[in-house]
Amino acid sequence: MTTTCEYKPGLDGITAAYSGISSVNGKEGLLEYRGIPIEELAEKSHFLETAYLLIWGYLPQADDLEAFEAEVREHRRIKYRIRDMMKCFPESGHPMDALQTSAAALGLFYSRRVLDDPSYIRAAVVRLLAKIPTMVAAFQLLRHGNDSIQPRDDLSYAANFLYMLTEKEPDELSARVFDVCLMLHAEHGMNASTFSARVTASTLTDPYAVIASAVGTLAGPLHGGANEEVLAMLERIGSVENVRPFVEECIAKKSKIMGFGHRVYKVKDPRAKILQKLAEQVFEKFGADRYYEIALEMEKVVAEKLGQKGIHPNVDFYSGLVYRKLGIPQDLFTPIFAIARTAGWLAHWREQLGENRIYRPTQIYVGKRNQPYLPLEERSL
Ligand code: CMC
Repeated sequence: MTTTCEYKPGLDGITAAYSGISSVNGKEGLLEYRGIPIEELAEKSHFLETAYLLIWGYLPQADDLEAFEAEVREHRRIKYRIRDMMKCFPESGHPMDALQTSAAALGLFYSRRVLDDPSYIRAAVVRLLAKIPTMVAAFQLLRHGNDSIQPRDDLSYAANFLYMLTEKEPDELSARVFDVCLMLHAEHGMNASTFSARVTASTLTDPYAVIASAVGTLAGPLHGGANEEVLAMLERIGSVENVRPFVEECIAKKSKIMGFGHRVYKVKDPRAKILQKLAEQVFEKFGADRYYEIALEMEKVVAEKLGQKGIHPNVDFYSGLVYRKLGIPQDLFTPIFAIARTAGWLAHWREQLGENRIYRPTQIYVGKRNQPYLPLEERSL
């Protein structure tokens, strides 16, 4: 069959769905969740309320929010068999791989799949939001030979995660800053991992498989994995004086500078602006970070060299600096992105189920035709 359709690498500009969850204006640098500007949510909301907004489509009334928070609190614990399974993971394994495996394993324990039952949908949403942070924190402790810590019901979603990770109750600023980071990463339209979630959802498989496939997609260095790479890059650069030669070398070698550039934003990512302010708040309280000076110089030099191409800091550029100041290990940055983005993925899962048709794009065949089948002994390279 011949086809006349045009192929766009990376599906750039191809519409994959109607969505009412978030909108991104890349020219002006605007991001809204369900019509509400991200800046307003970052100032006034908190992660679970924002997750509710994304998933159910509206800001909850006080009693709805209270009930939702209570359900999530109640489901934070993970089964001992999941913990035992995680104990067998190699400690050198990446936490994103551990998370993908554990998220998929939830499907073994909660296998009843009734996608047209609202109570099943609600339970899956609650379970995933509740258990993903516990699994990330558990792997962090288990891989160091320690027992995982039980969640604390008296702590907020963000504070409880930091507590499970560090065995210390976080101070108010750290918990709030972390909570805002979660809100900023919760959703971002039709990005690679969300597309992956929607493709998986469109087969009507279970939500644990949906989230597991999205986690696997987020892990790559061109997507969520970039936040980890940014810190490694700043450490490699090592000093403000080395920034210019580093950027020039990247441009000469056509290699990507981590934490810069975006398929949609052609100006500075609005989330990077908020994260930069959060970074400054934590530096003020906990002491300066010399890599921040390097980051500022990078932003300046990249703007000078690549600004005209629309390459500016993205969400990943400042998030690592914030997380490191909060005492979070570098290889947990992307799993934290996954904790937050679970809200967006679940919103897209629900939306996809609402008007589902299995994704089945096409391809343009460019391979050989009419080839004979050669017996083994007649084959040569
Ligand atoms: N450093 C240097 N040049 C860049 C960069 C960068 N970070 N990003 C884009 N460019 C250049 C690229 O070389 C190309 O130039 P030319 O037209 O001369 O060949 C042009 O800009 C377009 O780049 P592209 O790779 O075609 O753009 P894309 O939309 O396919 O990729 C991106 C977007 C985010 C994958 C890319 O900008 C990138 O690899 N950035 C670094 C990794 C990163 O920070 N990723 C996090 C993205 S935001 C959060 C998330 O999605 O998880």
